[in-house]
Amino acid sequence: MNLDAYPKEVGLKGGKAVRIRPLQNDDFDRLFAFFQSLTPEDRIYLRHDVSDPKLIRKWTSEINLNYVIPLVALDGDTIVGDGTLHIATHGWMQHVGHIRLVVARSHQRLGLGTLLARELVGLAEGHGLEKLQGHVIESNLSAAKMFERVGFEKVAVLKDLVKDQNGRDQNLAIMINDVARLSQIMEDWIQDSMIPGYRGSGEGYG
Ligand SMILES: CC(C)(COP(=O)(O)OP(=O)(O)OC[C@H]1O[C@@H](n2cnc3c(N)ncnc32)[C@H](O)[C@@H]1OP(=O)(O)O)[C@@H](O)C(=O)NCCC(=O)NCCS
Repeated sequence: MNLDAYPKEVGLKGGKAVRIRPLQNDDFDRLFAFFQSLTPEDRIYLRHDVSDPKLIRKWTSEINLNYVIPLVALDGDTIVGDGTLHIATHGWMQHVGHIRLVVARSHQRLGLGTLLARELVGLAEGHGLEKLQGHVIESNLSAAKMFERVGFEKVAVLKDLVKDQNGRDQNLAIMINDVARLSQIMEDWIQDSMIPGYRGSGEGYG
């Protein structure tokens, strides 16, 4: 996986700027602080219990780009967004990637989730993936809307399959899109909805 294009500086709606780069082994404190800062409403929908320091230690110490490509967005030295692309190295899902995103409340609705997704789509394209999926708890409207906004289609809802972080049964929505199609849709979306400066200065922006 070629990550030479990072770090990238990108401007968000409202004028804030963030730096997007791969997660590093020395990011434990930053990543733990980021997950600690999430609101209970956001944390409840996440697949993992991100309040567990052992889990965050594992994520930062065992980075293996063959399976997971983790990107973080930093405002100064503070992580404000986290996006991961998960890849199967063998089997019938080898052509299908899986993306997960989390953005701090302070930086939501500024386009950061979409920009992180766009980076992951670019990496998926570079890796030769054909499809991407996002798994979202159906009642998590902000995540479902963000995925739909960039063209993901809800192809299945698995009733009461998962438990949220409060232990309640929830429906899991499977959202899918083709990588080539996504790449174009996201480009159009970013061009259409950007205010000047939003596109950022990294390679491939604008
Ligand atoms: C889902 C999430 C990553 C979106 O991040 P974000 O940076 O706010 O997303 P964007 O600013 O790129 O939003 C893109 C579009 O998604 C939709 N959207 C995002 N959040 C929304 C909300 N709370 N309500 C309604 N629509 C929303 C909007 O259409 C938005 O475009 P607009 O602001 O121009 O109207 C963020 O809400 C989050 O971290 N949630 C908690 C964790 C989570 O649920 N992750 C998903 C699991 S994969």
